[in-house]
Amino acid sequence: IHQAAAAVTANTRWVDDFPTPGVRFADLTPVFADGPAFSSIITALSSVAPDAELVAGIDARGFLLGGGIARDLGVGVLAVRKAGKLPPPVQTCEYTLEYGTAAIEIPGDSKILHGRRVLIVDDVLATGGTLGATVELLERAGADIVGVTVVTEIEALGGRARLADYPLTSLVRI
Ligand code: PRP
Repeated sequence: IHQAAAAVTANTRWVDDFPTPGVRFADLTPVFADGPAFSSIITALSSVAPDAELVAGIDARGFLLGGGIARDLGVGVLAVRKAGKLPPPVQTCEYTLEYGTAAIEIPGDSKILHGRRVLIVDDVLATGGTLGATVELLERAGADIVGVTVVTEIEALGGRARLADYPLTSLVRI
Protein backbone atom coordinates (compact mmCIF):
# COMPACT_ATOMS: atom_id res chain seq x y z
CA ILE A 1 0.00 0.00 0.00
CA HIS A 2 2.86 2.41 0.77
CA GLN A 3 4.43 1.64 -2.59
CA ALA A 4 1.13 2.28 -4.38
CA ALA A 5 0.49 5.53 -2.53
CA ALA A 6 4.01 6.79 -3.21
CA ALA A 7 3.63 6.09 -6.93
CA VAL A 8 0.34 7.99 -7.02
CA THR A 9 1.77 10.97 -5.19
CA ALA A 10 4.88 11.11 -7.34
CA ASN A 11 3.18 10.74 -10.74
CA THR A 12 -0.18 12.50 -10.54
CA ARG A 13 -0.36 15.36 -13.04
CA TRP A 14 -2.25 18.32 -11.57
CA VAL A 15 -3.95 20.51 -14.16
CA ASP A 16 -5.21 23.92 -13.12
CA ASP A 17 -8.47 25.32 -14.52
CA PHE A 18 -9.64 22.09 -16.15
CA PRO A 19 -12.33 21.32 -17.19
CA THR A 20 -13.56 24.71 -15.97
CA PRO A 21 -11.83 27.73 -14.39
CA GLY A 22 -11.08 27.29 -10.71
CA VAL A 23 -11.04 23.48 -10.81
CA ARG A 24 -7.76 21.64 -10.27
CA PHE A 25 -7.91 18.32 -12.12
CA ALA A 26 -6.05 15.25 -10.85
CA ASP A 27 -4.86 13.36 -13.94
CA LEU A 28 -3.79 9.83 -13.01
CA THR A 29 -2.85 8.88 -16.59
CA PRO A 30 0.91 8.62 -15.85
CA VAL A 31 0.18 6.54 -12.74
CA PHE A 32 -2.00 4.02 -14.57
CA ALA A 33 0.47 3.83 -17.48
CA ASP A 34 3.21 2.59 -15.14
CA GLY A 35 3.02 -1.20 -14.80
CA PRO A 36 4.34 -1.67 -11.25
CA ALA A 37 2.34 1.35 -10.02
CA PHE A 38 -0.91 0.13 -11.59
CA SER A 39 -0.38 -3.36 -10.26
CA SER A 40 0.28 -2.15 -6.71
CA ILE A 41 -2.80 0.09 -6.84
CA ILE A 42 -5.01 -2.80 -7.94
CA THR A 43 -3.64 -4.99 -5.15
CA ALA A 44 -4.22 -2.26 -2.55
CA LEU A 45 -7.77 -1.46 -3.67
CA SER A 46 -8.71 -5.15 -3.94
CA SER A 47 -7.79 -5.68 -0.29
CA VAL A 48 -10.49 -3.32 1.04
CA ALA A 49 -13.42 -5.66 0.31
CA PRO A 50 -12.20 -9.22 -0.20
CA ASP A 51 -15.77 -10.51 0.22
CA ALA A 52 -17.19 -8.45 -2.68
CA GLU A 53 -19.20 -10.45 -5.22
CA LEU A 54 -19.19 -7.75 -7.90
CA VAL A 55 -17.08 -4.67 -8.65
CA ALA A 56 -18.79 -1.52 -9.98
CA GLY A 57 -16.41 0.82 -11.83
CA ILE A 58 -17.42 4.40 -12.60
CA ASP A 59 -17.11 5.97 -16.07
CA ALA A 60 -14.47 6.35 -17.22
CA ARG A 61 -11.28 5.78 -15.23
CA GLY A 62 -13.11 3.64 -12.69
CA PHE A 63 -13.50 1.10 -15.52
CA LEU A 64 -9.73 0.58 -15.64
CA LEU A 65 -9.52 0.02 -11.91
CA GLY A 66 -12.73 -2.02 -11.73
CA GLY A 67 -11.56 -4.53 -14.30
CA GLY A 68 -8.27 -5.05 -12.52
CA ILE A 69 -9.85 -5.39 -9.10
CA ALA A 70 -12.53 -7.79 -10.33
CA ARG A 71 -9.85 -9.97 -11.88
CA ASP A 72 -7.89 -9.93 -8.61
CA LEU A 73 -10.96 -10.91 -6.59
CA GLY A 74 -12.19 -13.45 -9.11
CA VAL A 75 -15.57 -11.73 -9.51
CA GLY A 76 -17.45 -9.86 -12.24
CA VAL A 77 -17.48 -6.18 -13.09
CA LEU A 78 -20.26 -3.67 -13.81
CA ALA A 79 -19.74 -0.43 -15.73
CA VAL A 80 -21.60 2.51 -14.16
CA ARG A 81 -22.04 4.74 -17.22
CA LYS A 82 -22.40 8.43 -17.86
CA ALA A 83 -25.91 9.17 -19.16
CA GLY A 84 -26.76 8.33 -22.77
CA LYS A 85 -24.36 5.43 -23.28
CA LEU A 86 -26.54 2.46 -22.34
CA PRO A 87 -29.47 1.07 -24.32
CA PRO A 88 -32.89 1.16 -22.61
CA PRO A 89 -34.13 0.28 -20.14
CA VAL A 90 -31.86 2.20 -17.76
CA GLN A 91 -31.96 3.44 -14.18
CA THR A 92 -30.66 6.99 -13.80
CA CYS A 93 -29.42 9.19 -10.95
CA GLU A 94 -28.61 12.88 -11.46
CA TYR A 95 -25.97 14.68 -9.42
CA THR A 96 -24.06 17.94 -9.19
CA LEU A 97 -20.42 18.04 -10.14
CA GLU A 98 -17.70 20.49 -9.15
CA TYR A 99 -18.51 21.81 -12.62
CA GLY A 100 -22.18 21.56 -13.66
CA THR A 101 -24.59 18.65 -13.44
CA ALA A 102 -24.44 15.13 -14.76
CA ALA A 103 -26.22 11.80 -14.55
CA ILE A 104 -25.10 8.21 -14.30
CA GLU A 105 -26.88 5.07 -15.40
CA ILE A 106 -26.96 1.33 -14.99
CA PRO A 107 -29.04 -1.23 -16.88
CA GLY A 108 -32.70 -1.01 -15.81
CA ASP A 109 -33.11 -4.74 -15.44
CA SER A 110 -30.09 -5.10 -13.16
CA LYS A 111 -30.87 -8.41 -11.46
CA ILE A 112 -27.11 -8.71 -11.27
CA LEU A 113 -27.16 -6.24 -8.35
CA HIS A 114 -30.00 -7.58 -6.24
CA GLY A 115 -28.71 -8.93 -2.94
CA ARG A 116 -25.08 -8.86 -4.12
CA ARG A 117 -22.12 -7.54 -2.12
CA VAL A 118 -20.71 -4.76 -4.29
CA LEU A 119 -17.42 -2.84 -4.17
CA ILE A 120 -17.57 0.56 -5.94
CA VAL A 121 -14.40 2.09 -7.38
CA ASP A 122 -13.37 5.35 -9.04
CA ASP A 123 -10.10 7.18 -9.55
CA VAL A 124 -10.84 10.41 -7.68
CA LEU A 125 -13.21 11.53 -4.90
CA ALA A 126 -13.75 15.30 -5.11
CA THR A 127 -17.17 16.69 -4.07
CA GLY A 128 -18.59 13.18 -3.78
CA GLY A 129 -21.40 13.87 -6.26
CA THR A 130 -20.48 11.00 -8.54
CA LEU A 131 -19.96 8.39 -5.83
CA GLY A 132 -22.99 9.64 -3.88
CA ALA A 133 -25.20 9.13 -6.92
CA THR A 134 -23.65 5.73 -7.56
CA VAL A 135 -24.36 4.37 -4.08
CA GLU A 136 -27.93 5.66 -4.36
CA LEU A 137 -28.40 4.02 -7.74
CA LEU A 138 -26.91 0.68 -6.72
CA GLU A 139 -28.82 0.53 -3.43
CA ARG A 140 -32.05 1.26 -5.29
CA ALA A 141 -31.23 -1.80 -7.41
CA GLY A 142 -30.86 -3.90 -4.24
CA ALA A 143 -27.07 -3.98 -3.90
CA ASP A 144 -25.31 -4.34 -0.55
CA ILE A 145 -22.45 -1.81 -0.70
CA VAL A 146 -19.53 -3.48 1.09
CA GLY A 147 -16.92 -0.92 0.05
CA VAL A 148 -16.33 2.36 -1.74
CA THR A 149 -12.74 2.94 -2.77
CA VAL A 150 -10.76 5.55 -4.72
CA VAL A 151 -7.15 6.18 -5.53
CA THR A 152 -7.10 9.88 -4.64
CA GLU A 153 -9.35 11.76 -2.20
CA ILE A 154 -9.28 15.56 -2.39
CA GLU A 155 -10.14 16.22 1.23
CA ALA A 156 -10.80 19.95 0.96
CA LEU A 157 -13.84 19.30 -1.25
CA GLY A 158 -15.57 17.34 1.48
CA GLY A 159 -16.81 14.37 -0.56
CA ARG A 160 -16.37 11.98 2.36
CA ALA A 161 -19.31 13.63 4.19
CA ARG A 162 -21.66 12.56 1.37
CA LEU A 163 -20.60 8.95 1.86
CA ALA A 164 -20.74 8.89 5.65
CA ASP A 165 -22.93 5.76 5.74
CA TYR A 166 -20.51 3.66 3.69
CA PRO A 167 -17.07 2.10 4.24
CA LEU A 168 -14.91 4.52 2.24
CA THR A 169 -11.19 4.04 1.70
CA SER A 170 -8.71 6.09 -0.30
CA LEU A 171 -5.11 5.32 -1.13
CA VAL A 172 -3.95 8.95 -1.08
CA ARG A 173 -5.55 11.93 0.69
CA ILE A 174 -4.52 15.41 -0.32
C1 PRP B 1 -13.97 12.82 -12.31
C2 PRP B 1 -13.49 11.61 -11.54
C3 PRP B 1 -14.70 11.21 -10.74
C4 PRP B 1 -15.39 12.53 -10.47
C5 PRP B 1 -15.13 12.98 -9.05
O1 PRP B 1 -14.67 12.42 -13.43
O2 PRP B 1 -13.07 10.60 -12.42
O3 PRP B 1 -15.55 10.34 -11.45
O4 PRP B 1 -14.82 13.49 -11.38
O5 PRP B 1 -15.77 14.20 -8.80
P1 PRP B 1 -16.89 14.38 -7.69
O6 PRP B 1 -16.45 13.68 -6.44
O7 PRP B 1 -16.95 15.87 -7.50
O8 PRP B 1 -18.18 13.83 -8.24
P2 PRP B 1 -14.94 13.40 -14.64
O9 PRP B 1 -16.06 14.33 -14.28
O10 PRP B 1 -13.65 14.04 -15.02
O11 PRP B 1 -15.52 12.45 -15.78
P3 PRP B 1 -14.81 11.45 -16.81
O12 PRP B 1 -14.38 10.27 -15.99
O13 PRP B 1 -15.91 11.11 -17.76
O14 PRP B 1 -13.65 12.18 -17.45
